[in-house]
Amino acid sequence: MGMLLDIRDLKVYYSTLRGSVKAVDGISFSIGKGRSYGLVGESGCGKTTVALAITRLLPPNGEVVGGEIRYNGIDLLSMREEELKRKIRWKKISIVFQGSLNALNPVFTVGDQIAEAILLHEDVDKEEARQRAMELLSLVRIPTERVDYYPHELSGGQRQRVMIAMALACNPEFTIFDEPTTALDVITQAQILELIKDLQERLKLTTMLITHDLAVVAELCDEVGVMYAGKLVESGEIEEIYESPLHPYTEFLVRTFPSIRGRKEFVEVPGSPPNLLNPPRGCRFHPRCPYAMEICRKEEPEYVKVEEGRFVSCHRVSRR
Ligand SMILES: Nc1ncnc2c1ncn2[C@@H]1O[C@H](COP(=O)(O)OP(=O)(O)O)[C@@H](O)[C@H]1O
Ligand SMILES: [Mg+2]
Repeated sequence: MGMLLDIRDLKVYYSTLRGSVKAVDGISFSIGKGRSYGLVGESGCGKTTVALAITRLLPPNGEVVGGEIRYNGIDLLSMREEELKRKIRWKKISIVFQGSLNALNPVFTVGDQIAEAILLHEDVDKEEARQRAMELLSLVRIPTERVDYYPHELSGGQRQRVMIAMALACNPEFTIFDEPTTALDVITQAQILELIKDLQERLKLTTMLITHDLAVVAELCDEVGVMYAGKLVESGEIEEIYESPLHPYTEFLVRTFPSIRGRKEFVEVPGSPPNLLNPPRGCRFHPRCPYAMEICRKEEPEYVKVEEGRFVSCHRVSRR
């Protein structure tokens, strides 16, 4: 299968006064064209950092210290910023940032803000940009009359739709949605997920959906990667992960969501996430793992392929 995005052994660290935060510490995955990949894991495990590394929008103290990110075979990490801006960012790869529904500027209308995003990246005049802004609004199912509304005149769900419209402004091929429904009520969440699903199909978008909620991934994604403490612990087709989770952390996530529709409240794994300044030795999950063995405290498990498209890093699995 043709892979659109290929990530190999990516490492991203943040330098802080207390030392180096190993936010992403050697992860590999690929996303095929037209596919939807879910990146799931609890808060602080490094999901947003992966997204910022792909779009090369890391904050100044963040640095890719190892690995490769290839997009359509092109090495994104060695590309010059100027070229990346001109050819890739927003035009090929776009992102709906985490918490973005509160990122609109309160003093400009949503139409002006979408048009501004278009004018920044494309060679069109103001009239064309406004026309395109209206098309984008209708694409995300906001009545076009609202083009002259201010952000505070829209609901949270509509503001999130505007942010999605902006991410789609330059007809990207690949869009990252970072926690697109997190701050919304349950009904609005469902509507936004429905919209994303529809856009994936209609625009033939390749997507990466980031969430702490496996049920969201199950709604929208073909494949899922489960992250824990800066590492991928398991990945594979969503059905297979649901049917037979191999990693104890995945098993926990799946067990707390017995059915996607009749869903329970989000349940957290007992214990606390590790400090990424100084992650646990051995398997990073061992302090919280109900099955931890001696080896888990000492040796880091390899991320191994258990079958085509299915990977896991757990000593119990590699020893079977
Ligand atoms: N700018 C930063 N400086 C230092 N540490 C950071 C910075 N941004 C994120 N981190 C740390 O990196 C880790 C991963 O963060 P993040 O990628 O935001 O995780 P997630 O999106 O899964 O919640 C966390 O421990 C977080 O505290
Ligand atoms: Mg995040």
